[in-house]
Amino acid sequence: MSILTGQICIVTGAGQGLGRAIALEMSREGAVPVLIDRNPETLEQLAGEIVRAGGICSHHSFDVTDYDAYSRAISEIVKRHGRIDTLVNNAGINPATRSILDDTLEEWRRTIAVNLEAVYMGSKLVAPVMAAQHGGRIIHISSIQGFASSGLCGSYNAAKGALIAYTKSMAVELAPYNILVNAVAPGFMVTPMSVVNGVDETTTPEFIDWYIDKRKIPLGRSGQPEDVAGTVVFLASNYCRYMTGQLLVVDGGLMSTF
Ligand SMILES: NC(=O)c1ccc[n+]([C@@H]2O[C@H](COP(=O)([O-])OP(=O)(O)OC[C@H]3O[C@@H](n4cnc5c(N)ncnc54)[C@H](O)[C@@H]3O)[C@@H](O)[C@H]2O)c1
Repeated sequence: MSILTGQICIVTGAGQGLGRAIALEMSREGAVPVLIDRNPETLEQLAGEIVRAGGICSHHSFDVTDYDAYSRAISEIVKRHGRIDTLVNNAGINPATRSILDDTLEEWRRTIAVNLEAVYMGSKLVAPVMAAQHGGRIIHISSIQGFASSGLCGSYNAAKGALIAYTKSMAVELAPYNILVNAVAPGFMVTPMSVVNGVDETTTPEFIDWYIDKRKIPLGRSGQPEDVAGTVVFLASNYCRYMTGQLLVVDGGLMSTF
């Protein structure tokens, strides 16, 4: 039996990586994914894939930091689908690794805008819809970098850490409306984001030696997008109904060892 049958589930950053896997898994579980991404080509490809597999979806291409565009899209989604069951705040960027000694205010602002402020915007736009229907799920994709740092990504760390705190606040504020708010913290995932300067950081000899061969990741492998998708589907489903304000860490055990 499908566990999300007929549910309207918005996924931001759906064009590739984790968002794409989340949307596909939600569709396989019977949901109607509403795909959002700034890249129209990857969105079209994914929408075609979902439809060819027998699913239903809609898609909207805009930059999630554009509040007016976001607001128009939510209005269209409500008009078309009549409700919103889940919002997955997944769109994110992890810019060039630089320390506070040589990064720029512009880079800081852009990272905070995409990874944190846009999460506020999307949540602010869907929360009244969910409150009116007396139920919904908001799921933030944070990161293990929200509570530990590999260094040289301060703005990303700050945004992802703030998301964990904001999950708690939103969970308390929205509980009276039966809106559950939870977060997921992935570890090292194999996605286009893991490619830094043309090199997939999860395949370098140093990475393999430390994280895989020496079992710094106890499960002995990097994460695949599907590993996160399953967790998000659980949080969106009725199997998760008495849990809110929580962070689920999906990292192969990385943060459980030292
Ligand atoms: N890959 C990892 O190892 C990892 C680990 C922990 C957390 N995360 C988080 O998971 C989420 C997804 O990461 P990913 O690895 O799939 O990244 P990715 O770069 O592969 O994909 C991100 C998607 O978001 C879209 N996007 C980015 N900025 C946008 C904007 N302003 N407006 C609309 N769309 C935008 C991109 O076009 C892209 O399709 C991010 O929030 C990321 O921080 C990733």
